[in-house]
Amino acid sequence: MVEHTGLLHPAAASKRGHDPIFAMLSRCRAAADAGADVVNGTVGALLEDDGSLAVNTTFLDAIRSAPDAEVAAYSPLAGRPDFNDLLVSLALGPARDGLEAAGLATRAMATPGGGGALRLTAANLAPPGGQVLMRDRHWGPYHGFLAEANLRRATWPLLGPNGEETDVDGFEAALAEVSTAQAQVLIWLNDPAHNPTGLSLSAEGRRDLLDAVVTSALVRPEVGHSLMLDTAYALYAEEAHGWANTVQEALEEGMMWPENLLLLWAVSLSKSHTAYGARCGGLVSVHPEQDVLDRVHEAFAASGRGTWSGPPRVPQHAAVTVHRDAEAADAWSARLEDLRGLLDRRRAALLAACAEHGVPLNPTHDGFFAWLEHDDPQRIAESCAAQHVYLVALDGGVRIGLCAIPEASMNRVATALASALGA
Ligand SMILES: Cc1ncc(COP(=O)(O)O)c(C=O)c1O
Repeated sequence: MVEHTGLLHPAAASKRGHDPIFAMLSRCRAAADAGADVVNGTVGALLEDDGSLAVNTTFLDAIRSAPDAEVAAYSPLAGRPDFNDLLVSLALGPARDGLEAAGLATRAMATPGGGGALRLTAANLAPPGGQVLMRDRHWGPYHGFLAEANLRRATWPLLGPNGEETDVDGFEAALAEVSTAQAQVLIWLNDPAHNPTGLSLSAEGRRDLLDAVVTSALVRPEVGHSLMLDTAYALYAEEAHGWANTVQEALEEGMMWPENLLLLWAVSLSKSHTAYGARCGGLVSVHPEQDVLDRVHEAFAASGRGTWSGPPRVPQHAAVTVHRDAEAADAWSARLEDLRGLLDRRRAALLAACAEHGVPLNPTHDGFFAWLEHDDPQRIAESCAAQHVYLVALDGGVRIGLCAIPEASMNRVATALASALGA
């Protein structure tokens, strides 16, 4: 028996590679190969209506035309300074100047994708054995990032008890519990365009959560508070830089920034630049004291060195090339706009079809996914698969990959869900 070789130590032996998303994708492909007319809502990448990968050619061309040295040479271990500067602009958007003028310092580090940024925070901003706070619906691979850092999760509800799109009380209660038990509190908040629901917080929701974190940091000055915004899909959202705007407004209204509060943006170019396999992203930190950021980033750089050595160089070069050339930046941005339009049309079609067929979808605004909350998601996904509509059953519901489903198929998705719910 493979289990008895003794090669894996006990903690490693509990790791499993089974991924429900890829399992359903293989079933979908097998059905399609056997001639079924399938709707494939399992994929997590943005596909054209014909099923091919949607790409932003401007960015890919910049990779293809990179000089040899940009492809072959090492990157500086914490990323190229010009790319790190770009990361700050991608995270903060037009509010960057205002935030810096208001006295905030920034620092960024390139990582192999947004996943690398998650890893850096897990490795450094929460105590081993402790908990990281997140909403109860979240991206499944968070569990792996936590496990690798010997962390667990503490959750608060995605929606309020009466369907409110921010459960401030739930958040405050969870935060109070974790911040009394640990000397460092790390919060992962995937917003806007949440995976797996497509929910984006409103300006009011963002402000309520920010105020709650600031209050907690002021009440417990001995506890480090880090709020990391996972913005993997932000550039597909209507308010791409909503968090930076919220912070700016709060400062303008006199918010006191506690020194034990760090705000971070996990940036991913996987979706925004269609750089999924290029592994490009980074971690942006914001705090009033540059010295504080320098110290924290020293630890981040050491973790990066000890985990992936250095980040890939050529995608950093390509991103900088695109964004410093006005014509290329416009072309990239126009394509991003087209792809956002594609998602908007698909989401509108799904919402209309679900309304017509009485399917109670969760609130969904932006990004790649929509969500049906259900206590038996497996049964719903199986029933849909029997109708050759392939969706993914996750904890607490069914994920609908708008990113992979043509607008014309949304009626089939809604009817399959309606029949599954009625069954
Ligand atoms: C919620 C969320 N966060 C972070 C990531 C990280 O992506 P990457 O490491 O490819 O940049 C993803 C990718 O699917 C995601 O869905």
